[in-house]
Amino acid sequence: MQPIGPLMIEHRLIERMIDVLVKESERLDSGGDVDAVFIDTVVDFIRTYADKTHHGKEEDILFRELEGKSLKPDHEKTMKELVQEHVEAREMTAALVRAKDAFLEGDRSALQGIKEKMAALVQFYPAHIEKEDKHFFKPVMKYFTKKEQDAMLEEGRTFDRRMIHRKYLSITEQGEIRVGKDPSRESSDWIEYM
Ligand SMILES: [Fe+2]
Ligand SMILES: [Fe+2]
Repeated sequence: MQPIGPLMIEHRLIERMIDVLVKESERLDSGGDVDAVFIDTVVDFIRTYADKTHHGKEEDILFRELEGKSLKPDHEKTMKELVQEHVEAREMTAALVRAKDAFLEGDRSALQGIKEKMAALVQFYPAHIEKEDKHFFKPVMKYFTKKEQDAMLEEGRTFDRRMIHRKYLSITEQGEIRVGKDPSRESSDWIEYM
């Protein structure tokens, strides 16, 4: 398997979650109540899976390795756009969280913000994924030897393995901060091990 194999499999799962978000947007548009727990679930999916795990492997492995190659100008341009789009997706997600928090604090007008940010994410992901799947991933594999591709695939496996531990380390640390405990000493060995 090429290193873009897992990335394309991950795209299919992101698309499925975006389809769920489309249905939730339609429910809100037809007057349904805001489901804050659902929003939290979608935000966790986007932040942990689509961003840290998936965009993480793109940026920290594939794009990092491409930086070391002399890319054709159009590939270089597309890679810069993709990195910028990841930044924009993080901003959209943060804005959805802000709108949801404002709504929960009693600002009814934040409903419009929730709808707009959901719509922005629903528009963003399919276009971003199409750009990678159809115009970037396959052509850029030509810059790599089979050995380099195998090394990236293996690094991706390690990256994924660490993710579950980092996720729950982060949740534990947030819990510790909540109860007034300093998590920094306990975490240092962990980070080294991971
Ligand atoms: Fe991406
Ligand atoms: Fe992607």
